[in-house]
Amino acid sequence: MAPLIDPFARPITYLRVSVTDRCDFRCTYCMAEHMQFLPKKDLLTLEELDRLSSAFIRLGVEKLRITGGEPLVRRDILTFFRAMSRHLDSGALKELTLTTNGSQLKRFAKELADCGIRRINVSLDTLDPQKFQDITRWGKFAQVMEGIEAAKAAGIRVKVNTVALKGFNEAELFPLLDWCAREDNDLTFIEVMPMGEMGEELRLDQYWPLKDLRARLAERFTLTELSERTGGPARYVRVEETGQKIGFITPLTHNFCESCNRVRVTCTGELFMCLGQEDNADLRAPLRASEGDELVEDAIRRAIARKPKGHDFDYSRQKVEGQMSRHMSHTGG
Ligand code: GTP
Ligand code: 5AD
Ligand code: SF4
Repeated sequence: MAPLIDPFARPITYLRVSVTDRCDFRCTYCMAEHMQFLPKKDLLTLEELDRLSSAFIRLGVEKLRITGGEPLVRRDILTFFRAMSRHLDSGALKELTLTTNGSQLKRFAKELADCGIRRINVSLDTLDPQKFQDITRWGKFAQVMEGIEAAKAAGIRVKVNTVALKGFNEAELFPLLDWCAREDNDLTFIEVMPMGEMGEELRLDQYWPLKDLRARLAERFTLTELSERTGGPARYVRVEETGQKIGFITPLTHNFCESCNRVRVTCTGELFMCLGQEDNADLRAPLRASEGDELVEDAIRRAIARKPKGHDFDYSRQKVEGQMSRHMSHTGG
């Protein structure tokens, strides 16, 4: 079958599937405190998620990342991971993974490892329990630490995702780095993207360009650029003094859209061709219209044919451009 190639000649090999809009945390840059969640009937069932993900895999997707909300709060989600692991066994899928807040890992780590998950990304913006509480609103720091422990005990490699927030975690830079070196966790910093209802002023106050963060790191350590990639948007360096790997995700200061290889599906079956654009295609209707997968494959191809060149996020000129009211939790990042 012909692979998915977008109008800018980019092969689409990475699918991010959000399996729920719910989360047991309320990170301030991701969700409002009181969210209106979707009714269950609107969600794709686990069988529909399977059909849809499998269709993408037939069309050439090699990397499947499960997101949310928090993917591990969806009931019976391990059934879906178990089902997807057949694509690892067949060799069609090179990587099955998830991005999680870590709260449920203690419960699920072992089973996730049994499904062939080798590496996960855990969102963690601070090591200070009080700050953790402030940013996640509802999170429990100790629970996340136990979750990370459990993942590693199950043989899963952990990459910590830290959103760089001025006035919030600037002082955490070196403690996070030290902790990740000691624990042998990879670490990736992310520039905060203007999504959700947060005001423009606050966004600008919080935005910490990663070139500044990186310059601060370089004052203390020798950083060597690595050419290896994980298929995601991060660029990596090695810290020569500790040997650890640090990633930078810079949608604002260094746009990586030209090498974009990914699309995302929401828990209701909307296909977003770009995280930073509103255009989306409904895949739930073609899924439900027939038991065969022809309609849905056709809808996927038509949608990929209009994948845009990139996002319009921009904080320059002391003004936020490209802000979207859609919350990050809707598309899973
Ligand atoms: P790796 O497989 O470890 O490379 O993971 P990843 O970076 O692809 O996934 P993860 O879920 O950890 O995403 C980290 C951050 O990158 C999140 O804030 C995402 O929103 C952001 N991100 C991922 N893909 C894109 C993208 O295509 N565009 C933009 N602007 N941000 C993205
Ligand atoms: N900007 C950048 N990253 C964000 N995330 C959530 N909201 C934002 C935002 N507005 C991150 C989470 C998680 C990943 C999936 O996306 O911290 O690590
Ligand atoms: Fe939940 Fe992740 Fe959003 Fe935080 S960033 S509220 S953990 S979905």
